[in-house]
Amino acid sequence: MSNKLNGILMAHGFGSGQAGESLYLELYNAIKKAIIKKKLEYNTRLPPTRLLSQDLGVSRSTVVKAYDILCLENYITSVQGSGYFVNDFQQKKIKYSLKTYDKPTEYPSVSEKARRFRKHLNLMNRMHQPGLAFRPGLPPLDIFPVGQWQQLTNNYWKGVKYSDLSYKSSLGLDSLRKSIVNYLKIYRNIQCHYEQVVIVTGSLHSLSILGELLIDPGDEVIVENPTYANAIAIFRSLKSRMTALEIDEQGLDISDARKKVKNPKLIYTTPSNQYPSGVQMSLQRRLELLEYANARNCLIIEDDYDHEFSNWDNPITSIFGLDKNERVIYQGTFNKLLHPSIRLGYIIVPSYLIEDIKALYEQSLRFVSPEVQKVMSDFIERNYFSRHLRSVLQISRERREFFTTAFDKLFGGVLKILPVSGGLHLIVQLPETIDDVLFSDYLADNGIITFPYSKYFSREPKKNGLIMGFSSVSTPVIKQKLELMYQLYTAYPAVVKAE
Ligand SMILES: Cc1ncc(COP(=O)(O)O)c(C=O)c1O
Repeated sequence: MSNKLNGILMAHGFGSGQAGESLYLELYNAIKKAIIKKKLEYNTRLPPTRLLSQDLGVSRSTVVKAYDILCLENYITSVQGSGYFVNDFQQKKIKYSLKTYDKPTEYPSVSEKARRFRKHLNLMNRMHQPGLAFRPGLPPLDIFPVGQWQQLTNNYWKGVKYSDLSYKSSLGLDSLRKSIVNYLKIYRNIQCHYEQVVIVTGSLHSLSILGELLIDPGDEVIVENPTYANAIAIFRSLKSRMTALEIDEQGLDISDARKKVKNPKLIYTTPSNQYPSGVQMSLQRRLELLEYANARNCLIIEDDYDHEFSNWDNPITSIFGLDKNERVIYQGTFNKLLHPSIRLGYIIVPSYLIEDIKALYEQSLRFVSPEVQKVMSDFIERNYFSRHLRSVLQISRERREFFTTAFDKLFGGVLKILPVSGGLHLIVQLPETIDDVLFSDYLADNGIITFPYSKYFSREPKKNGLIMGFSSVSTPVIKQKLELMYQLYTAYPAVVKAE
């Protein structure tokens, strides 16, 4: 049998050293083919593994593996005490095959909403480009008090109760909601009840909840031009009708809406530090906005994403603080102040919306990690937060000063920084002959991260420039990267426009 079997196996490919195949697969394939072609007939007894391995000059485990797969696929059966026998192939006992199937050429399509988000992917991908210099919107990451945070996290786990590990309310831990109320009272002159506070993972999360909460297809939404591109992506995904109003030196001018918008449902604004133009909305315009919202029965989302940076020296009362008619939803974030990977923010909502928000939130993200919430609340209560805040503001101011001085010295007026009120980013104006998207890509390829200004305008006229952060890296790195940027700029062709 052995010699005969050897011959059969050789004839069916064993020993051919077929490209890349392991020996046990070669053996398995040869036996399988021989069974299918009836060269090994029904009930044939195969040699024991040790014998076959000696005959073929292979290890016993090679034979064992091959037999195992053949058993699994029902080509052969192992009979205890008797050995391995070929099954009846004609009786279609064979259940499996290792055949690989061709990939389907068609897949089910994704939803229209997903397709709308997809259009923004290129812009969003910039957020994840590696490197810190000069990514806009980052605080000084190198001074985050890792030790204090770690100590509070350890405390949390030392004192944790089993009930802490269970499901929690989507609105957030009461301790953090109360800490935020105290913080806003002291630092933002905002009065609210802790039951109006909803804990979220950040401003973007809050915008996505509020969009779902308030917008039906066709609803009219007023946005600023330029504005936060992620907000546009959310409102567009909900099929709202958006009207983008211009910004002047006093911020959003709502009088324009009187002619352009019939029945507004929502106004999205960034009054402390208009994103990304950097204009601070005047008190007069805030009052006009409230009057308009009251008269038209609509809501305002006040995105106060970096008021700590833009409002410090010249605080103007928030629109939420001026509102007497529950027209304003206020959103704040710790992602800018501490670091974006903390994913923690909050919304202050008129009380009549709370139950609807809760219902919607419960059905999606459920709730933010109670561990992070509790540590944040302790961080605030122990005054670590206010101390860190002061350092963050001081270092950011120093780095901003250093950046602008070094930039002006290097570029000597060839490129100019536009005046902005504060915050964590600056805008560098580019000549009209240079496409800001292409130039930003070119810088990114060389390790410098910027965002193209034109991408934040939802309609013409679009401005051409680079949005740049200055705060996340130390001054020697700022100097080194600005020098590199200057070299890259001088080597760049004077006219580069997109097709
Ligand atoms: C206008 C605006 N709001 C909010 C945020 C912060 O978003 P998040 O809290 O989700 O990180 C940003 C970040 O770039 C922003 O530009």
